[in-house]
Amino acid sequence: MGKKNVIILGIESSCDDTSAGIICDGFLLSNIITNQDVHNQYGGVVPEIASRLHQQNIIPVVDLALKKANVKIKDISAIAFTRGPGLMGSLLVGSSFAKGLALALNIPLIEVNHLQGHILVHFIKEKDKEKTFPSFPFLCLLVSGGHTQLIVVKDYLDMEIIGQTIDDAAGEAFDKCAKVMGLPYPGGPEIDKLSKVGNPDAFKFSLPKIDDLDFSFSGLKTSFLYFLRDKVNEDPEFVEKNKPDLAASLQNSIIQILTQKLIKASKLTGINNIVLAGGVSANSGLRNSVIEIGKKEGWNTFIPELKFTTDNGAMIAITGYYKYLISDFASIDIAPLARM
Ligand code: KG4
Ligand code: ZN
Repeated sequence: MGKKNVIILGIESSCDDTSAGIICDGFLLSNIITNQDVHNQYGGVVPEIASRLHQQNIIPVVDLALKKANVKIKDISAIAFTRGPGLMGSLLVGSSFAKGLALALNIPLIEVNHLQGHILVHFIKEKDKEKTFPSFPFLCLLVSGGHTQLIVVKDYLDMEIIGQTIDDAAGEAFDKCAKVMGLPYPGGPEIDKLSKVGNPDAFKFSLPKIDDLDFSFSGLKTSFLYFLRDKVNEDPEFVEKNKPDLAASLQNSIIQILTQKLIKASKLTGINNIVLAGGVSANSGLRNSVIEIGKKEGWNTFIPELKFTTDNGAMIAITGYYKYLISDFASIDIAPLARM
């Protein structure tokens, strides 16, 4: 590969996945992710363990990403890293590594907002794959373990949040309710699996009445918790007997909360380019529902490929690529931010 190619190494370490992705001129070359399964037994991410494991994983992950991409380290144009939001101890590992490598190679350092990364996965090109890309402006429903937002995306790096959760995130609602049902962490994928064989109308939980384009999930969580507590008092085997129906009904409620606001936002803004992003966009029920609603509403709907839904280095690299093109570089004394 010659000097003209723009090759970006993207480092993601905001939560419990250590990941490195390489993007060359907007094309994906590699995307390596190590999950930290050790957190499952604790029912959630243990920050201290997460940062220690990032420290162990980061060099092998970057090394593998380079090998898989067939790129030599001296050919990299710039290093992009997740500045935040996320767990401070986790962010520190990725940012310190990125700074050290950028200094050693004497190449630019690029800071990336993790949430922007989730959205820009929709612009990753892949060799020999026909893809259509969303056109600006588009409306993005960003749903992850830490965030639930409606965002008007005017350009690659020009975004405006028009609605967000006032309490829990959609992913948290999945994870917390799954925990109450005795399912392992993270609960979202478990609920998704069980839902496939459950009846979404078996149980009804109270849905929030929140104005504007904001979301709330804490009421649903409480309603679910109290419902289970009462039922288990009557029959200790209740959860065991009704797992698929409980999962499908819960998932149905979460999807309703999300899609009602998405429809409202599309009507209010007049935007019908609709984009899903974030870890919860892996949910098969949500994906199907947004596609179905899109057909009725006349949307151009963009659903991310599953491999790009949860945290990954390629999303940081593609964002870094667009920042590189406008020379938006970070100084070496930049600090990570838990909240952005
Ligand atoms: O974006 P992400 O990987 O990390 C954050 O930035 O938070 O999202 C993780 C969240 C978790 O809450 C997880 O339960 C949820 O995404 N998730 C899902 C599914 N896959 C991941 N939720 C519902 N259904 C899924 N299939
Ligand atoms: Zn994420």
